Amino acid sequence: MDSLLIKGGVPLQGEVLISGAKNAVLPIMAATLLTAEPCVIRRVPALSDVEFMAEILSSLGARVTIGGDAVTVRAARLKPVGNYELIRKMRGSICILGPLLGRLHHATVSLPGGCVIGTRPIGLHLKGLRALGGEVTTEGGYVHVKAKRLIGSDTFLGGRAGPTVLGTANVMMAAVLAEGVTTIESAACEPEVVDLAFFLNKMGAKIVGAGSPIITVTGVKALGGAEHEVIPDRIEAATFALAAAVTNGEITLKGARPDHMSAVLDKLREAGVRVDRTGLTMTVRRGGALRPVDVTTQPYAGFPTDVQAQMMVLMTLTPGLSIITERIFESRFMHVPELARLGADISIEGPSAIVKGGQRLSGAPVMASDLRASAALVLAGLAASGTTRVNRIYHLDRGYETIDKKLRRLGARIQRVADS
Ligand code: EPU
Repeated sequence: MDSLLIKGGVPLQGEVLISGAKNAVLPIMAATLLTAEPCVIRRVPALSDVEFMAEILSSLGARVTIGGDAVTVRAARLKPVGNYELIRKMRGSICILGPLLGRLHHATVSLPGGCVIGTRPIGLHLKGLRALGGEVTTEGGYVHVKAKRLIGSDTFLGGRAGPTVLGTANVMMAAVLAEGVTTIESAACEPEVVDLAFFLNKMGAKIVGAGSPIITVTGVKALGGAEHEVIPDRIEAATFALAAAVTNGEITLKGARPDHMSAVLDKLREAGVRVDRTGLTMTVRRGGALRPVDVTTQPYAGFPTDVQAQMMVLMTLTPGLSIITERIFESRFMHVPELARLGADISIEGPSAIVKGGQRLSGAPVMASDLRASAALVLAGLAASGTTRVNRIYHLDRGYETIDKKLRRLGARIQRVADS
């Protein structure tokens, strides 16, 4: 397992090109299963999660080729059973369920189970598939869904923490080949859902309303191949914006979508970070003294849970009290004890982390627990004096394309080392 060694204290300077969005590309790759014709996806980030998804599609019988930043999938023949070992490695793989059901009327996929950030149930996915006529059974760690006919219907996908992103994706993908009209209420509004709908419409689907809480899908008989470039990764962009803020540097983000990042940019500005926008380019630097802020994570267009850990690093450097409340996942504070090793003063009370900021961080060995926690630890290491060793960085490679190289180009002293 590799680690990252970071010698902190360097203000990062320069330009970084934002990659395609992990959370857009994974469901879009799954959507290619809906047609026997070839599909080409561009601006695909080189991530281990993308490799896993390619393996999963191959194991189902699809031909997948990866060349540069393009992935081509041809699912001429397909089997309905997902490989247990592959699927359990990546929770995002649950989004093959909808397309398999839509195309084959039968799908067997291993239950993804929880992960360190929360229990991550799929009850809402199954509720939506049942509404279309799917019969759901679970056995031996697998969920089986089958339907003689898929028939459009109304379904409400709101849950305890709001809508479900991949649940919305799954139901949308099953509904595109159902008979009649499906209405998804309390649908997730994330840009990644909109990108998926855009891709499906290019394949011949009839989806309206994606990006709003009500999505209407009029079923069609068959879908064809399509080409698509995925949207930029708003979470990666936010992470680099925070890298500029926490190191007191100046980073220009190229090829981002500032309009997908309003909640984050708004909080950055409130915290004393300056963001200058020109089209798809943003330059981020501190605009003076940092100010404490309170943040609550919410479904889109609120502040994303996937930026909560990274935002906390800025709070630890900001004199005063900041409170960050996590409303999406119940145990997404695994980074807190690790940040404490670097000198942060954070206490957890229920769903909130109370950050007494303004401490000087100093480097230490830390353990990455999940993708975004790992990104936070890297940011903290960049801001800290001395050397930080971030262990178990395979989490980072799941979701950040060549993060160490990108940071090095910005002046970071960061090195990947193999564990001894
Ligand atoms: N939920 C339910 N029932 C369900 C499904 C979800 O109660 O059937 C709850 C979850 O427990 C959670 C909330 O609904 O409290 C939201 O979960 P959601 O289903 O939206 O999450 P997801 O679709 O599994 C995607 C991203 C996550 C991101 C969340 C929230 C992908 C591959 N994953 O997960 O990304 O945090 O939406 O925005 O798109 C990450 O990239 O690091 C990551 C974890």
